[in-house]
Amino acid sequence: MQYRTMGKLGIKASAFGLGCMRFNGPASGDSVIDENKAISLIRKAIDGGVTYLDTAYVYLDKTSEIVLGKALRDGYRDRVMIATKMPSEYVHNREEMQALLDSELKKLQTDHIDFYLMHGIDLSKWEYFKSIGAREFFDDMKKAGKIRYKCFSFHGPYDQFEAILNDWDWDMVQIQYNYMDVDNQAGTRGLELAGKKGIPVVIMEGLLGGRLAKAPSNVQALYDAFPVKRSPAEWAFRWLCNHPEVSVVLSGCNEESQIEENLRIFDTVEPGIMTDAECALMDQVRSAYISRTKIGCTGCRYCMPCPNGVNIPRIFSVWNNVSLHDTDPRHDWDLRQIRETDSGANKCVACGACEAACPQHLSIIDSLKQAWHELAAND
Ligand SMILES: NC(=O)c1ccc[n+]([C@@H]2O[C@H](COP(=O)([O-])OP(=O)(O)OC[C@H]3O[C@@H](n4cnc5c(N)ncnc54)[C@H](OP(=O)(O)O)[C@@H]3O)[C@@H](O)[C@H]2O)c1
Repeated sequence: MQYRTMGKLGIKASAFGLGCMRFNGPASGDSVIDENKAISLIRKAIDGGVTYLDTAYVYLDKTSEIVLGKALRDGYRDRVMIATKMPSEYVHNREEMQALLDSELKKLQTDHIDFYLMHGIDLSKWEYFKSIGAREFFDDMKKAGKIRYKCFSFHGPYDQFEAILNDWDWDMVQIQYNYMDVDNQAGTRGLELAGKKGIPVVIMEGLLGGRLAKAPSNVQALYDAFPVKRSPAEWAFRWLCNHPEVSVVLSGCNEESQIEENLRIFDTVEPGIMTDAECALMDQVRSAYISRTKIGCTGCRYCMPCPNGVNIPRIFSVWNNVSLHDTDPRHDWDLRQIRETDSGANKCVACGACEAACPQHLSIIDSLKQAWHELAAND
């Protein structure tokens, strides 16, 4: 396992951090987490050298922290750093922030949280957190030793990222980043800005939630033609770790084999590890993905809520996924969700509210028609 220094904090963390958001139930489709399996996966990762674990109050119906707390008994807690988060939706004042943090400490069976994040913020959530005194609360909790570092995770456009990053003396930031998101959300500019300020960056969605681990045929052809053979997941992780600003790459694993593969990959991922030819390959891979992408929706949800209830980002996400991975059986479930609920593209009345709000200036109305035609025809 490679260990990286976390920017200005000067501490080291494993380059591979385990995300605790994706543990499955005992059977496929179960909403209840398979606790024994999750505990064994967490301990396997720690025994393999992982020292950074990421969870959140809301993950897995609020059970992720409980399972992590159980996994960290028997001396495991002392070997790792925990990151967890405060969701803006659950707190309206200092008393509620205190109660929420205390409940997280109890669930995690610990007296302190290493990295405490304002969860998934954009500019409006940051303004909200400020208005309820979250900065003072985080500072006080640091002094009291209940949290070690004050941090945020971010989903939103770059300019909002820059504004938030420059607005407080943050200890760490967590962003969505991978070779497809170079110009999306915080993107490469955000990564480099944090790096310049010495703020360590933790990466989420490095495989786009697993999608980059399953290469479509045109991408696989590029990998096959390259002299060095690696799995799509390994290419994606190496591309991330090539960036010196990246401290930790989180990935949520559901299988022992994934933990084993990731432990192996993160053994040899020094910054600057990619050759020029490998960087050029990843540029080609990105173009190959884009060529099969139906629409450049980034899922920012500025178009929501649709006055007529159409779930625009979800429809576009399914449309893109079907085009990229038309053999992936998970899409049957996604398609059913869209067809069988009241949020399908056929409910669009072309009012145009979404197009006025879309920061990507997408032709949403026409695209919804096309998506519905293609998805509904895809029986
Ligand atoms: N703060 C926030 O707003 C926020 C948002 C998102 C995520 N997060 C955190 O960031 C963590 C990481 O994000 P993520 O879980 O989306 O990471 P990710 O690495 O993009 O996706 C994880 C998925 O990738 C697949 N995978 C992992 N290793 C693999 C391997 N070696 N080979 C093939 N497939 C592999 C698995 O998918 P399958 O199960 O389909 O095989 C796994 O569930 C989350 O777990 C969570 O803790 C935070």
